[in-house]
Amino acid sequence: MAKLLKNSKLEDASVKILKIRQDEIRSKRSLILENYLSGNIILIENFKIPVDLEVFNFTSLPSILPKLDAPRGSALEKKYTLSYKSITKPFTKNAARVIYKDEKKAQELTSVMTLCEEYVCNIFRLIFSLEGRPDSYGTTWRFTNTKKQNYHFDIYSGKCFRAFWNLSSNPRSWGFGYKIEDVFKRYKDRINSFVQKTKEVDFKLTQENFNPFLNSLIEDCPTHIVKYEQYDLWLCDSVKVAHQIIGGDKLAAFTYIFDDNKMPENVYSGLNYVDNISSLIKSIAT
Ligand SMILES: [Fe+2]
Repeated sequence: MAKLLKNSKLEDASVKILKIRQDEIRSKRSLILENYLSGNIILIENFKIPVDLEVFNFTSLPSILPKLDAPRGSALEKKYTLSYKSITKPFTKNAARVIYKDEKKAQELTSVMTLCEEYVCNIFRLIFSLEGRPDSYGTTWRFTNTKKQNYHFDIYSGKCFRAFWNLSSNPRSWGFGYKIEDVFKRYKDRINSFVQKTKEVDFKLTQENFNPFLNSLIEDCPTHIVKYEQYDLWLCDSVKVAHQIIGGDKLAAFTYIFDDNKMPENVYSGLNYVDNISSLIKSIAT
């Protein structure tokens, strides 16, 4: 069972974790939709996909952080004769071969990954009444050990749906607590002066230029900690839910980008955090 370590000092952090059983997804889809769009985390413990999960029972690659750990990263790239990208996104046969030298096993891994990605995609389609296929898939398969990251909001250009699935028998620890609006309340004055200054240079507000500023404000903030167990799946709009990887191992980060026209109006407006940011800015600026 996932463990929650609450930080009692975080009274102004409003993200909640809603636990749902896997067999309740259909009957509770309105509740899941409402919580996802309002920036809460939906946790489904011990989430199983009807595939042979044994294929994920391999030892993780060591941590590879090209920017922070370049010499080691490039040595590993040389060793595997692959790019970092193809190791973290091993949908290619080559990348599956990093894990399994045996061609049959490598192919099995690739096809299981594809099935898992489709399975989770169908869950999003059910919950959010999405039509057709995603415009693009941005899923990453992190078969590396992961060390501590900064506390941050993700930055995406399209409107996406995100879920994370811990494949490792080691827990994956996440720091969390703040939603976008909590940060607005906490740093009202600094955000206000950022907005005033940028107005002078014909500032066009996008999530891509605003989230980096918000990230610079929160990177040293305290967090609650949740430790996800093996096969825990959590759905989370990570562009408006601040999060920090504290440590972890193998993980699938599912990302589905849908065209705006393929989603119902309430889902579109719920995901359209840029408009929400605009109205929040207006409310603090006046
Ligand atoms: Fe992130």
